[in-house]
Amino acid sequence: MKIHFTRRQFVATASAASVALLSESFFDPASVLAATPVVRRDVGGMDASDPILLSYRKAIKAMKALPTANPLSWTYQAAIHWTTLSPLLTSWDNCEHGTDFFWSWHRMYLYWFERIIRKMCGDPCWALPYWNWAPGSELQLPAPFRDTTSELYTSNRNTNMNNGSGSLNPGAIDISSAFSQLDFLTANSIIQGPHGSVHVEVGGWMGQVQTAAQDPIFYLHHSNVDRLWDLWLAQGGGRTDPLSDATWKNRQYTFFDENGNPVKMTACDILRAAGQLNYVYEGEPPQVNEYCLRFFPPWVFEWQLLLHLPIPPVELNSVPVSIPIELGEIHQRLTQALESRTETIFLELDDVETETQPGVVWEVFLGLPAGAAGDAKSPYFIGSLSLFGSGIRSEAHHEFKPARFLFLLNRALHKALQSNQERLLVTFVPVGILINGKPSRPEAKSPLRIGKVNLQVEIRKEGVKDKTGKEN
Ligand code: C2O
Repeated sequence: MKIHFTRRQFVATASAASVALLSESFFDPASVLAATPVVRRDVGGMDASDPILLSYRKAIKAMKALPTANPLSWTYQAAIHWTTLSPLLTSWDNCEHGTDFFWSWHRMYLYWFERIIRKMCGDPCWALPYWNWAPGSELQLPAPFRDTTSELYTSNRNTNMNNGSGSLNPGAIDISSAFSQLDFLTANSIIQGPHGSVHVEVGGWMGQVQTAAQDPIFYLHHSNVDRLWDLWLAQGGGRTDPLSDATWKNRQYTFFDENGNPVKMTACDILRAAGQLNYVYEGEPPQVNEYCLRFFPPWVFEWQLLLHLPIPPVELNSVPVSIPIELGEIHQRLTQALESRTETIFLELDDVETETQPGVVWEVFLGLPAGAAGDAKSPYFIGSLSLFGSGIRSEAHHEFKPARFLFLLNRALHKALQSNQERLLVTFVPVGILINGKPSRPEAKSPLRIGKVNLQVEIRKEGVKDKTGKEN
């Protein structure tokens, strides 16, 4: 068992904690090692009477009965993600979006939440289910969450999603481009797009970062996002956690255990879900075991800015909008990058912002032929654009952070260059959820502005082998 702190440090911390009530302890992986991992199951295979859902309901009820200031209360737990309440208590407003810590922070958050649910429902083996919206295609809100008499229900959602007529738009939640990435940081960035689209399309509380975690479905949505981390890694091909990134590994966060005591955690504590956190996902391939010590990264990634489009800010609303890219001088360089095995081309949108949650998702296309309707199954589709957790001015509690997006271009660019296009259109098509299987009319409640549009090339280079194997 390799852990990132020494036994002496741990003992010192533990004894200090017993003196001062409020001092924090570190996560002790030894405490979860003995047991066989619990299985986080697909909610799609559960009916409303499944003991896992009954226990979840029981726990929610008990947590809602606790006063807000109790760390085990439903409100406190949700506020750790983000809240509208003030003053802020310990660890509130902590969630990570638009950052390198998205996958890691949410894994920690769910882990402690799951332990609290276990205590509150009295089932020591309880495991958080997942909503398999991708790669499975459970596009409807799981039925037990639509029963108006259940603790799993809230009226603060899109009405159609809540009455069963609505389903997620498959194009909005496409994960293929995130999954094709070899670099963790790029995959972690791109996966936030489809993840955010689920938030926006469920709507209501889920659509806004300050209220999202009050909806019981939030945790099942993120259980799936967390499973996607495992699945991404399991594809192999050199994919690995960013173990040479000291900032990523060492940033420390505080959560609360099931006794309401603060606990500290870093990414080194959560690399192996089964080994360190004692859970696996139903049906997942063997988890990839990574360790904070002794790591030789196979390669490093560098970015090269190819083209900055000198355009005024682009405004998106309820109708499709296109912006042209003149290839001119960069045509050759693009062809070269497309032919290379180590270069990947991205469209980068930066300084993306809006006033309030627009409530729609934009599908993005490159090189869509004039007059062609956007089809997310076509080779011109490059991904979806939605805002969640960053880029929304009215939701910025502290400092405002615009959003940034990366779209993988290789496939669409290849197609466009084949047809000798010299002027490529980037097209944004707003989409709504499907209602009774048909696209609904999207109404953007607030226009979205894109400040910068760039073409970037990611270049993969062989990593320097660290023969010493010491912590880097
Ligand atoms: Cu921190 Cu999906 O939210």
